[in-house]
Amino acid sequence: MVADDMLTVVKLGGSSITFKERSFSFDEAAIDNISSALSDFGGRLFIVHGGGSWGHPVAAAYGLNSFSYSKNARGASLTRLAMLELSKKVQRSLIDHGIGVFFFPPQHLESMDLEGLYQTRAVPLTYGDVIYETGRGYRVIGGDEIISRLAALQRIKRVIFIMRTAGIMDATGNIIDTISLKTGGGIQIDNVPIMNGGTTYTFKQAKDEMQTLSPDATGGITYKLLVAERLASKGVEVLFLSSGSRDNLVKALNGMKFQGTTVMG
Ligand SMILES: Nc1ncnc2c1ncn2[C@@H]1O[C@H](COP(=O)(O)OP(=O)(O)OP(=O)(O)O)[C@@H](O)[C@H]1O
Ligand SMILES: [Mg+2]
Repeated sequence: MVADDMLTVVKLGGSSITFKERSFSFDEAAIDNISSALSDFGGRLFIVHGGGSWGHPVAAAYGLNSFSYSKNARGASLTRLAMLELSKKVQRSLIDHGIGVFFFPPQHLESMDLEGLYQTRAVPLTYGDVIYETGRGYRVIGGDEIISRLAALQRIKRVIFIMRTAGIMDATGNIIDTISLKTGGGIQIDNVPIMNGGTTYTFKQAKDEMQTLSPDATGGITYKLLVAERLASKGVEVLFLSSGSRDNLVKALNGMKFQGTTVMG
């Protein structure tokens, strides 16, 4: 496979396309910036979006999350319905900007003929959802986990996590420019501060306590950093930024200097 076939994966964080503190809210300005920036991109794209204030509250109301299995079929149905409704808005915006998205539930990720889809110029899209696992039951699979699974199937050049904040914050609320896997150059990933309620943990501590510290159904920023760590260790470029500026998104998509956080492999 030639380098041009490598994927650019964009995660439209639920925190960026919705307001997580307000159930069933939608950020039209954010999706407009994102769709417009993506419509200019020439490479192979794979789009994943999160649940934000649509998926997470419904999952939480029925005790569904990424860390345990449930037999609550009604909770699964309603969470999936909320995600379909959110996805309809996301897809409408992308399609209106000329992006030919072809959506499928993440349960089908491993069986999708992505190469065939790309041959038709489609842009595959999937999203955080409830999956059913044989003999175990229902579980939430978040958008960040989907990207981790995709990395086992496809060669990925760059993953861009779009979220509400302009990157990963330090303990004073400033955006961290560079995170490194080893010491030297920026903050070492294990030392990244994770703010949770009134307490600040290191990423190393938060990883061990992921399930108890999770602010939502899928592990929040800790799980996102865990995926970033795995991807960066395989040589994938991992970027975090907000949807605030279309220009900044275009820069990140094209490998130019941008405002946000980079995890160095
Ligand atoms: N160092 C940090 N400690 C704690 N929280 C942080 C830190 N840096 C950023 N965040 C928060 O984490 C959020 C991103 O994670 P979160 O899981 O809430 O959003 P998301 O993944 O975009 O949404 P969804 O899970 O619905 O897709 C940011 O928008 C910001 O509020
Ligand atoms: Mg999240």
